[in-house]
Amino acid sequence: MSILDHSGPAARAQFWVWWAMLIVTVVVSLSVYALWLYTFRRREQPQRTPREERHIMLRWVLGGGIALPVVSIVALLVFAAPTGRSMLPLPLPEGEAERIEVIGHQWWWEIRYPGEEGERDVVTANRLVMPAGEPVDFRITSEDVIHAFWIPRLGGKRDMIPGRHSTIRLEADVPGVFGAQCAEYCGAQHTHMLLHVEVLERDAYDAWLAERRSPPVPQEGFDQAREAFGEHCAACHTVAGFPDELVVDDLEHDIRGPDLSDIGSRPTLGAGVLPMEEGAIAYWLQHHQTLKPGNRMPPHHHIDTETLQDIGAWLETLEP
Ligand code: CUA
Repeated sequence: MSILDHSGPAARAQFWVWWAMLIVTVVVSLSVYALWLYTFRRREQPQRTPREERHIMLRWVLGGGIALPVVSIVALLVFAAPTGRSMLPLPLPEGEAERIEVIGHQWWWEIRYPGEEGERDVVTANRLVMPAGEPVDFRITSEDVIHAFWIPRLGGKRDMIPGRHSTIRLEADVPGVFGAQCAEYCGAQHTHMLLHVEVLERDAYDAWLAERRSPPVPQEGFDQAREAFGEHCAACHTVAGFPDELVVDDLEHDIRGPDLSDIGSRPTLGAGVLPMEEGAIAYWLQHHQTLKPGNRMPPHHHIDTETLQDIGAWLETLEP
């Protein structure tokens, strides 16, 4: 997750801004310390008229108070302005950039791939898949408090503000896996708001998306688990293709939990709390309030362990 290990044009530009700032800061600081030491070294005060005194004072005010900051800030702007511009969603000569929506929640990431007319939106959570070698416009917002979208090796960051959409353009040079993290304190579990970023070649990306875009296959087996899911979970969580008649919606709230349609294929649970492995979902369902205290999913004391294990075993099979 190091900004110094850049892997995209935006991150590279920011890397140079970082160095420019460091160098300018060091030069300015050293000059100020040198002048400060110089004031101690002077021995005799020469006799000066009030007019001369004023002149000297004016010189320091103009030189140190105006010229020096202006020169340093302009020097930094030369680096910073093009960097900021490179992340704007400006029109591209080769057509539209890929568009991905990222929505911050306490404390997880909702990722949406809007469909063309008549197509389904692909929705996933805590895992961002994007194509390599081309600009991607991330349209970001938040559902509750201010979060910040930050993929250190690709560039950023950008605040995610409830009720407002903003777009940041990022590009990854090559396929790979990158870490990302919410970069704005957003409550008790801010630390546990990790995002797993996977950059794929265009073909692999298209295939990944197409798999999820196609109509869900009717689910079979796990009847008890699905019934229990409909009763206890479906008021907040969506699973593509889950039959409506199984949904028992008796909760009077509008909390939206992560879409679980492809949960079996995600690398982690709870936005980076547990690695996804056999039995992990059942364990999470029983201990999530200990693993990630305060998360919005209510404790499941009223559901017996066997049912939770059933639900977990079924959810693990959910892959496109
Ligand atoms: Cu979300 Cu910090």
